Amino acid sequence: MKKSHIIIVSNRLPLILKKTEDGKIEVEKGAGGLVTAMAPILKNRNGTWVGWPGYVQESDMDDTMLPEIQKAVSGYSVKPVMLNSDELKKFYEGFSNSIIWPLFHGFIGKCLFLPEYWASYQAVNKKFALTVYQNADDPDFIWVHDYQLILVGAQLQKFHKRTPIGFFLHIPFPPIDTFIRCPWRFELLSAMLEYDIIGFHTILSKRNFIGCIKKIIQDAQIDAKKAFDETVSELRFNNRVIRIGVFPISIDYNEFFLHAWDSDVYKRSKEIRNNAPGTKLDTKILLGVDRLDYTKGIPERLKAFKRFLTRFPKFHKKVHFIQLVVPSRREITAYADLKLKIEQLVGEINGLFSTNDWLPVQYMFRNLERNELISLYRACDIALVTPLKDGMNLIAKEYCACNIDEKGVLILSEFAGAAHQFYQDAVLVNPYDIEGTASAIYMALNMPLEEKSQRMRNLRENVKNKDIFWWLNSFLNAAIEKDLSSFPQVDEYFPCKPDFELQSMVFL
Ligand code: G6P
Repeated sequence: MKKSHIIIVSNRLPLILKKTEDGKIEVEKGAGGLVTAMAPILKNRNGTWVGWPGYVQESDMDDTMLPEIQKAVSGYSVKPVMLNSDELKKFYEGFSNSIIWPLFHGFIGKCLFLPEYWASYQAVNKKFALTVYQNADDPDFIWVHDYQLILVGAQLQKFHKRTPIGFFLHIPFPPIDTFIRCPWRFELLSAMLEYDIIGFHTILSKRNFIGCIKKIIQDAQIDAKKAFDETVSELRFNNRVIRIGVFPISIDYNEFFLHAWDSDVYKRSKEIRNNAPGTKLDTKILLGVDRLDYTKGIPERLKAFKRFLTRFPKFHKKVHFIQLVVPSRREITAYADLKLKIEQLVGEINGLFSTNDWLPVQYMFRNLERNELISLYRACDIALVTPLKDGMNLIAKEYCACNIDEKGVLILSEFAGAAHQFYQDAVLVNPYDIEGTASAIYMALNMPLEEKSQRMRNLRENVKNKDIFWWLNSFLNAAIEKDLSSFPQVDEYFPCKPDFELQSMVFL
């Protein structure tokens, strides 16, 4: 019997092509939760992964590289889609990252609505769809990922591909008053309705999407009142049924948990604690880990730390804040500007408070090896995960999975998707509220050990029970399940009041 076949389509392949200094092209394997989750199912189901290997090439794929690319993964095939420098500028840096990314995260002022970006987005999405079509040897499911490829499903339908096609949006879906400003709002939304199932991280994104559909696509039928709370709902459009669901993505809990137990990681985490400038036995380490992005709230976090040091001088020399920023999208002005802003703030704080035996902020701008990152997670007392807006934020989950001593505190933004799952046990902050975030740092530093352990135990249970494999199964089950009522309702968080008494705090 013929084995069923699955195709994953994402902007990035689980590998990167890089040119070495001597001009050779090398293939670097990709890591991360999505790859870990997808690999077994791709291997099991004779799968194919279609995506961009992160390499810019003016002509189409030079076939000589294909065996090298294929060698980087085993058990399934990879089909690269190459981008040229014009596509990189207009599709990747342009429409994807200077229109959809800022718009969907609510940063309308950073959007650059250029028609040439839209033209390139359409063309590149078509190119991806064509690669899928040419390699779709009668698949039983095609799964398209993220905002760079919204139009792929609609393009495939034009090629008369009637295989079920799913789409997962890894970033938030904005409310109508934000979405409506996009000149191509109708085209983007109509294209989404060409999928058979659409997944979001949070119920908020699902509601926003339904709200936009109701207003912008008049013929779509959905019982919005019922859909308001349902985990998976059905929408009828053009004699088709489209499923819309909430599936919060996660990490491979066991993988992080096991690495955290590694004796080298333990040794390294001790070293990090002992070697931090001015570190004493009772020094508390705070940690921030982010891709360079204005959605991550890094300047706001640094301002909150500065405010904390100003308000609570008794903590001078007793705290050390490590901020790791991973380079990303540096060709885009907004990202280059952000880097300068962060570096200026770090300089300002260290200039104001450092002494010859204490450095308040340690800033790193680079990629770290995974074990080094896990050692940092283990070494720190408080993780500051305070994005201004985030689809999910997996750093929050990685930190909890690695906190095997269960003594750490997670300070989490209300506007991260993860807040919908962690609102009871993380210390939630509004990252725009600098004073409130400074108070939260103070509160976390003073939290009794019993409370810290209880909260961290609950957080870890949550990540363990709903890991990346749970996410994958939930999405694929929703695509095939007949009875949708079997999906338990997902949690929802709506910011209302802080979980600590701001009023009782002394403001200096
Ligand atoms: C976010 C997006 C992903 C993207 C990643 C890295 O997590 O949801 O689709 O791949 O950022 O960004 P980059 O632009 O380097 O692919």
